[in-house]
Amino acid sequence: MADPAQPLLRAEGVEVRRHGHAILRGVSLDARAGRVLALLGPSGAGKTSLFRVLVGEERPARGRVFFEQRDVTREPLWRRARLGVGYLPQGPSVLFDLTVEENLATYAAIVGRPRREVAELAARFELGAHYDKRAGDLSGGERRRLELARALSARPRVLVCDEPFSGVDPAGAQRLALLLRALATDDGVAIVLADHHVVESLAIADEVALMLDGVIEMRGTPEDFQRHPAAQGRYLGHWRESVPTPSRP
Ligand SMILES: Nc1ncnc2c1ncn2[C@@H]1O[C@H](COP(=O)(O)OP(=O)(O)OP(=O)(O)O)[C@@H](O)[C@H]1O
Ligand SMILES: [Mg+2]
Repeated sequence: MADPAQPLLRAEGVEVRRHGHAILRGVSLDARAGRVLALLGPSGAGKTSLFRVLVGEERPARGRVFFEQRDVTREPLWRRARLGVGYLPQGPSVLFDLTVEENLATYAAIVGRPRREVAELAARFELGAHYDKRAGDLSGGERRRLELARALSARPRVLVCDEPFSGVDPAGAQRLALLLRALATDDGVAIVLADHHVVESLAIADEVALMLDGVIEMRGTPEDFQRHPAAQGRYLGHWRESVPTPSRP
């Protein structure tokens, strides 16, 4: 297993500009083996933009991305995927006209995993009952579970998860959160996630980074995050004076 002290995936001084406007302004972030990092912040803060740079969907105007010690800033998404960078994009990404089984089997074939793992993955993500359904007919939460199952079929060493809990019901989100936690703890996967399900995210995070307006405003423990005035005011809102302190799984 990788040395947990060494970052597996690291962004350094990343700047992204769109229409002359800086979306990300010198962002550095790293994902470590066996650790869950939650990137939290308001809509439009730049979380997805940073993820796109981390996985190779977009090249930054400035800054670099490293996988282990290797500079992968100019490496395309597929090559980073082969190195072990898994990605769950924020938007829908299933093949709508194929069944659940066909979606998983197609991806398993692309990434060179044996077909027998498909049923196992489907069961792990509670998709057994939907095996023969067209992916386009799945509910929002079912589709999300399929997308996550597919991302994991490549056995990534780092998993960049953009809103894994979106559209998933509360109990389902808790089960997914525990599954992500187990992936980090038991399999040593480095997980970076962004999500507005703050309770689930804080419950499984070793560390939290708060992003505001394209910069990392703070990085610390879930408790540091909850105490931070900008987290309270700008992100969580004053309605919820505090998020219930999660009990750690
Ligand atoms: N292609 C684009 N052209 C112009 N502006 C863009 C483009 N893509 C993203 N942006 C802007 O960049 C900013 C950051 O967007 P981003 O999707 O990274 O936010 P986010 O933190 O992921 O938000 P959310 O929590 O809503 O997913 C937003 O203001 C968005 O409108
Ligand atoms: Mg986003």
